[in-house]
Amino acid sequence: MTTATATAAPPLLDISGLTVSYGRRRRTRVLDGVSLTARSGEILGIIGETGSGKTTLARATVGLVRPDAGRIGFDGQDLAALGGGALRAFRRTGQVQLTFQDPLRSLDPELTVHRIVGEPLAATGSAGREERAARVTEALTLVGLDPDELGSRTPGQISGGQRQRVSLARAIVTRPRLLLSDEPVSALDASNRNLVLQLLDRLRRDLDLAVVVISHDLSSLAGIADRVAVLYRGHLVEEGPIGDVLDSPHHPYTALLTASAPSVRREHRLLPAQLRAPAGREPWPDGVDCAFAPRCRFAGPECRETPRPAVVAEPETEPDLDPETAPDTTRTVACHHATTWRAQLG
Ligand SMILES: Nc1ncnc2c1ncn2[C@@H]1O[C@H](COP(=O)(O)OP(=O)(O)OP(=O)(O)O)[C@@H](O)[C@H]1O
Ligand code: SF4
Ligand SMILES: [Mg+2]
Repeated sequence: MTTATATAAPPLLDISGLTVSYGRRRRTRVLDGVSLTARSGEILGIIGETGSGKTTLARATVGLVRPDAGRIGFDGQDLAALGGGALRAFRRTGQVQLTFQDPLRSLDPELTVHRIVGEPLAATGSAGREERAARVTEALTLVGLDPDELGSRTPGQISGGQRQRVSLARAIVTRPRLLLSDEPVSALDASNRNLVLQLLDRLRRDLDLAVVVISHDLSSLAGIADRVAVLYRGHLVEEGPIGDVLDSPHHPYTALLTASAPSVRREHRLLPAQLRAPAGREPWPDGVDCAFAPRCRFAGPECRETPRPAVVAEPETEPDLDPETAPDTTRTVACHHATTWRAQLG
């Protein structure tokens, strides 16, 4: 287990209480009071099953969806508080970039790779033609693509792995400080998946980027993320260093996720059947409660009250580590039985 101090460098991204709903007349809440952070040079993984709100979180962070409430702190500035013009001006700076879930649909099929990658620079108007061309070449090279070979092709004329790299080149061409990557590897085969994950790992080191990688597949994140945030139906249920979370999940949903993924299941060695609610149990009544209660084996009367995320293990202090660069070891869990459910397994 890693050790750190409580005085690590302040996070570049500091989201707190983020709440987002969709719909005009009938609003459906899809994110409920989510808080998380990401530091420069750090990879934060976001995991959760389909519909848990991962893409919504990314879209809200870059200003594509207006939150109902909450703060999106970026380098001390609250992006959620920016009005239309100020938000557009901020987005044009390219400091925060998002790669979309489906690169084939998000890249214009008519444009060449060169044009696609250069578009964000053209939108800022900050670089002249020559500088733009040089920056496109630089970005394509950084993601391991040959600008001469691929620059004049269209998205339909390159492979899935190359398209994902083009998306990344387009995102880093503005030299962002924060990159959000939505399911960068879900459409790729195993070898391309590893290459793209290694690329993200290299980019955060070479460019000192804060990277948020969204995935519904825990094993994709296990090799590269420093920390992981687990979403369940719009609630943040657990957050912490990825090794610690995989070794010893504190939330029953995280435990179920890790138990269901043998490649990442570690020493806790729980099986899915040990964690699921018994088949014959009374249906969980509607109302204010823990969102996971209907599926949770450990649900009790106190779970009728929504559990709030709470720090379960204070960061350990290590006098030899530089507080500016020491990893953040805080564990946050939203479960009334975070420290006691394991004992019920016998
Ligand atoms: N534009 C929209 N209008 C209305 N509802 C939406 C919209 N976008 C998403 N939703 C709903 O919000 C919830 C969260 O969706 P979101 O796309 O953020 O989930 P996700 O975790 O990214 O899922 P996936 O793993 O399938 O990509 C889902 O119930 C989805 O149906
Ligand atoms: S709060 Fe209760 S229902 Fe929710 S995960 Fe914890 S034990 Fe299960
Ligand atoms: Mg999604």
